[in-house]
Amino acid sequence: MTQELLTFEGVGKSYGDLTILSDLSFSLFKGEFITILGTSGSGKTTTLKLMNRLLEPDSGKIMLEGQPLAEKDPVALRRQIGYVVQQIGLFPHLTVRDNIATVPKLLGWDNARINQRVEELLTMVQLPGVDFAHRYPKELSGGQQQRIGVARALAANPKMVLFDEPFGAVDAITRHHLQEQLKNLHRSLGDKTFVLITHDIHEALYLGDRVMVMDKGRLVQFDRPEEIVSSPKTDFVKSLLATVNRQEKLLGGMT
Ligand SMILES: Nc1ncnc2c1ncn2[C@@H]1O[C@H](COP(=O)(O)OP(=O)(O)OP(=O)(O)O)[C@@H](O)[C@H]1O
Ligand SMILES: [Mg+2]
Repeated sequence: MTQELLTFEGVGKSYGDLTILSDLSFSLFKGEFITILGTSGSGKTTTLKLMNRLLEPDSGKIMLEGQPLAEKDPVALRRQIGYVVQQIGLFPHLTVRDNIATVPKLLGWDNARINQRVEELLTMVQLPGVDFAHRYPKELSGGQQQRIGVARALAANPKMVLFDEPFGAVDAITRHHLQEQLKNLHRSLGDKTFVLITHDIHEALYLGDRVMVMDKGRLVQFDRPEEIVSSPKTDFVKSLLATVNRQEKLLGGMT
């Protein structure tokens, strides 16, 4: 895990007088699973959108594999970077197969190759093609739709997949199941970098090889989960961990 994939160097972002991100610097390596944790409004989504040029920084530099991101064609770039969000679901008028095929079609893949890839991905997310390929999104549960979202993001074999609170809208049991599947999927893919935003500290610590903690537009700690737990760097990280301790106390009290 030593090959740098993406680097932020002193990145800043403002809207008018309002500073959203200040002096953000970090590197992500190939094959890492990164989670981003922080309060609402701390700049997590903004940071993610800078990674695929849905937004541009006002200062600083972002490099992808040693080249300035700003020099990459945004459309081509977004086809190389998967993006999974909670709010924008699947295209409702397209079948599961056609949803997954969106980017491969844009890239001009032939039908045989697309069908093979769709089958492969549906198997990977454990929704077999015979049962699911021809369904429409409304014929799927929320958790199944999220898995199709993940399959769609992986369709054209991207280097990196960005997830913005992908499991926010599913129940706790399905959420645990999806977390486990995503972790296994990441492991089995080997060289893909996943970046996942969550409000859930358990999710962040469970999924992340490293956890990025943001507070008010700043990166306050970026460490392995065990380091976050054993040596929280700021009061903010400590207060996040206190919520875990509180939950555990509550659960402990119930047994
Ligand atoms: N287009 C915009 N114009 C002005 N302010 C914006 C714009 N987009 C985002 N912001 C502000 O930037 C800040 C960071 O937003 P961002 O969406 O990155 O937060 P977040 O950490 O993802 O929050 P949440 O957990 O609620 O999703 C917020 O205060 C938000 O109001
Ligand atoms: Mg957000």
